[in-house]
Amino acid sequence: MTLRLVVAENPEELAACASDRIMDAVAGRMAPVLGVATGSSPLGIYAELARRVTFGSNPLARASIFALDEYVGFSADDSRSYAAFVRERVVRPLGIDPARVFVPNGAAVDADAEAARFEAQLISSGGVDVQVVGIGSNGHLGFNEPDSPLNSGTRVVTLSASTRSDNVRYFDAIESVPTQAITQGLATIGRARAIILVAQGEHKARALAAALFGPVSPECPASVLQLHADVTVVIDGPAAQHLPTVWS
Ligand code: PGA
Repeated sequence: MTLRLVVAENPEELAACASDRIMDAVAGRMAPVLGVATGSSPLGIYAELARRVTFGSNPLARASIFALDEYVGFSADDSRSYAAFVRERVVRPLGIDPARVFVPNGAAVDADAEAARFEAQLISSGGVDVQVVGIGSNGHLGFNEPDSPLNSGTRVVTLSASTRSDNVRYFDAIESVPTQAITQGLATIGRARAIILVAQGEHKARALAAALFGPVSPECPASVLQLHADVTVVIDGPAAQHLPTVWS
């Protein structure tokens, strides 16, 4: 693994470092492919990218966008869907053509077939140049929950109780949080040419230490990143607190 670790002093530095890495990864690409995570962790990065493309040239205007995951049962026009998040937080602010935005269809009648279709679409795009990922407090990557096979492709998964409770903040009650999702698999994510892992807060510290320095094992799905050749980890101090001192 080539691991670059940045422990940022503040949210602005974190967003700037991650944005630099994204811009480096797409530099010179005629048709870059950007993989985006949803959730709170990357919001500052997307805002920083939007600020940059407003004031300069926009290499991301030619990009295709692939999402990591989507809740089963939600269509793209549901405001709680990840398709809506990608549209509002990434596609509009960065001026990307909606025809080049790919999110699994959570409302597909056959979710398994939809997962297979999405995986094929990703492969035929030529693959992701740079993938932004967060990490769950339980070590999940995308919605690959603990015990996900390291060689998994895009598929339908059942969300763990801890993930549903972490995400209840976006819903009115725990019963409203979906129980299933379509997620890129761990092998799918691992095919991205570069990966940026972003995390903030002490509630991510244990999972990060396990992911980066524990055994590579389905128990901590994000540990699969140790097998990747190009990972940049951009985190804040509280998230770094359980990393070996030589790193933090
Ligand atoms: P968060 O989610 O960015 O909202 O903390 C990350 C994740 O669950 O992967």
